[in-house]
Amino acid sequence: MIIDIVIRYAHFLGIFVIFAAVLGQHLLLKGTVPRAAVAKAQRFDIAYAVAVVVVLATGLLQWFSGSKPAVFYTSNPVFHAKLTCFFVVGLVSAYPSVFMGRNKKGDPGDLVIIPKGLIHCIRLELLLLVLMPLLAVIMSKGLGIPVEKP
Ligand code: HEM
Repeated sequence: MIIDIVIRYAHFLGIFVIFAAVLGQHLLLKGTVPRAAVAKAQRFDIAYAVAVVVVLATGLLQWFSGSKPAVFYTSNPVFHAKLTCFFVVGLVSAYPSVFMGRNKKGDPGDLVIIPKGLIHCIRLELLLLVLMPLLAVIMSKGLGIPVEKP
């Protein structure tokens, strides 16, 4: 019971950190910014990476050793939609990560032009992150599980 609560709590904390990190990047990276801002955004990326591991690990624990049988989730397309969103966020975040990694080094006062595509990637991540809790509560209620025909 206690372990279940701790796992769920860690899942939520991880989600908060992911959202905060991506939002922080969104606020920092726009137009033309000093290299120091890129370096700061890159530090958010480290927090993001750690939180992704926490969310994934606690998600897997709830899936395979939580209070409900694994098939409760596996059979639900809404759960698969949530997982797909999670992996799309991970894929889309690769571009900003690589850009920040390449542009963080050098004179902190240098100006760096932020590509429009990068801003769109971060916005897409935020959109999917907002959608995921909705999918999570829907699947948690068991909505979306196909009804077996008699
Ligand atoms: C940023 C990504 C994620 C978000 C925003 C998210 C969101 C949530 C939320 C809000 C809940 C609580 C639902 C409720 O109790 O009503 C939850 C539970 C859960 N999540 Fe996630 N989640 C994410 C990633 C994952 C991943 C990657 C997995 C699987 C590997 C996963 C598996 C689960 C499971 C199994 C539950 C338990 C649902 C239940 O209580 O029946 N989640 N998630």
